[in-house]
Amino acid sequence: MSANDSKKIITEAGVRIRLATNYDSPSGHARGADDEAGAGNGGGAFFNPKMRCNRAFVCASLAALVESRDPVSGPIDCLDGFSASGAMALQWKTRLVSKIRVLAVDRCPSAMSALEANCELNGVHWRRVRPHEVAEQFSTDCGSGKLKILTALEQVNSVMETCPFDFIHLDPFGSPAGNIESALRHLRNGGLLSVTCTDLASLLGQQPRVAMRNYGAVLMRVRCAPELGARTLLAFVAACAARCNKAIRPVYCLSAPRFLLACVRVERGARRADDCLARSVGRLAHCRVCQQQRPATSGSIGGDNAGCGCGDDAEGGGAVAVLGPVWLGDLFESDFINRMARHLLGSAESDSLLASEDKILLKMLLEESQCLSRSTDSLEVSMPPFQPMFYISPKWLRLSGVDLPRLEQLIEILRSSGHAASRTHFDLTAVRTSASIQACRDLILQHSTAAILNHNNTTDAASLTSSMDS
Ligand SMILES: C[S@@+](CC[C@H](N)C(=O)[O-])C[C@H]1O[C@@H](n2cnc3c(N)ncnc32)[C@H](O)[C@@H]1O
Ligand SMILES: [Zn+2]
Repeated sequence: MSANDSKKIITEAGVRIRLATNYDSPSGHARGADDEAGAGNGGGAFFNPKMRCNRAFVCASLAALVESRDPVSGPIDCLDGFSASGAMALQWKTRLVSKIRVLAVDRCPSAMSALEANCELNGVHWRRVRPHEVAEQFSTDCGSGKLKILTALEQVNSVMETCPFDFIHLDPFGSPAGNIESALRHLRNGGLLSVTCTDLASLLGQQPRVAMRNYGAVLMRVRCAPELGARTLLAFVAACAARCNKAIRPVYCLSAPRFLLACVRVERGARRADDCLARSVGRLAHCRVCQQQRPATSGSIGGDNAGCGCGDDAEGGGAVAVLGPVWLGDLFESDFINRMARHLLGSAESDSLLASEDKILLKMLLEESQCLSRSTDSLEVSMPPFQPMFYISPKWLRLSGVDLPRLEQLIEILRSSGHAASRTHFDLTAVRTSASIQACRDLILQHSTAAILNHNNTTDAASLTSSMDS
């Protein structure tokens, strides 16, 4: 290998990836399928080093799934559906070896050649297969101690419509909406679907028409946009699952600056699908004045209110918008996230999955999930509590002239008043709480009055003592 070549190799989480020219430009790689030879896309595969955090969480989800399964039931069948350079598939295989069997798919010929070259760079054997050959090849030698993955130069939907898997990860350019139903069709009972979305402009409500087109949801710009985006994606996944007679339970959602990642557990059964839709998917009444949100009751504008009272006076007329459909149930399985954390933090710095700057995100996610979620992996569909959905930043409360408490203090105040409260990874300046916006405002005001009184009392006592001394 020439010195020049070695400059183009990056190591991430212990896996070596040879970078193509133009490697991190989606536009250079997006049209790979239209161009059989891969010419015009700069050759090679797309690879974005800034998505390390995404790959780390996905790899940790798979590791946590493997850990939760009985080893006697054999290796877990995994699909990296939009594999590009193979970075994700290689991280899975080199860490979990014989516990998993991996198929890496990409429709772009030049990406596939780069992926297979990256396998060789990491001492991983590969075999190119057609969809109908996957099951047989998996059973022959992919689950042994040998480092081997299958590759397929295919449209991912045709693979997913043909083969069953226990774990599927989707990471397309743009929206995954067109791939989710195909993924769910043959995902095995108890399996996980993991989806990375980079179409944040639509999911965060900046492009409402695109959100309607892709997810069939009414969205607008709101302060809790990242959580609303996650809940919109989950409602869409639940609807796709229902068409396959399946129910979903979110394992976690992760909102990061460049992507939204959702991981759901899938359970078979038409009744479960019906229950899942009835209990956990619905519309949201959102107050445009104070940003309070709660599940809508009638689904019609005017028939709903966000419970804040802003629409009661003439000024607040038309304050409520009905958004969604959104997922109204839990977002996190804290036991599962704890297991993921062990994989994310467990390894030595040199081949650590998570970069140190992303550890704060994990810490917040852990805290948030422990505050809110079920603490069981049980697949029983249970009625989720509707609160506390969403979060409040003290800065949004327009409390001029009041010293705002630090977030930790505010959490203490809320908890001591009987509300659930925690930090939230969705917004590092906010507190997730079951308290309404009005209750939160009142508590801050009360607390600041108490602080002033305390301060005055202390000052009075001090001046009294000093006058007695003199
Ligand atoms: C965003 S990149 C994937 C990045 C990769 N997951 C990673 O972490 O580095 C998307 C890849 O999907 C491929 N692709 C796009 N549409 C596809 C389809 N319908 N079927 C299979 N692959 C597709 C593209 O060629 C591209 O390599
Ligand atoms: Zn309001």
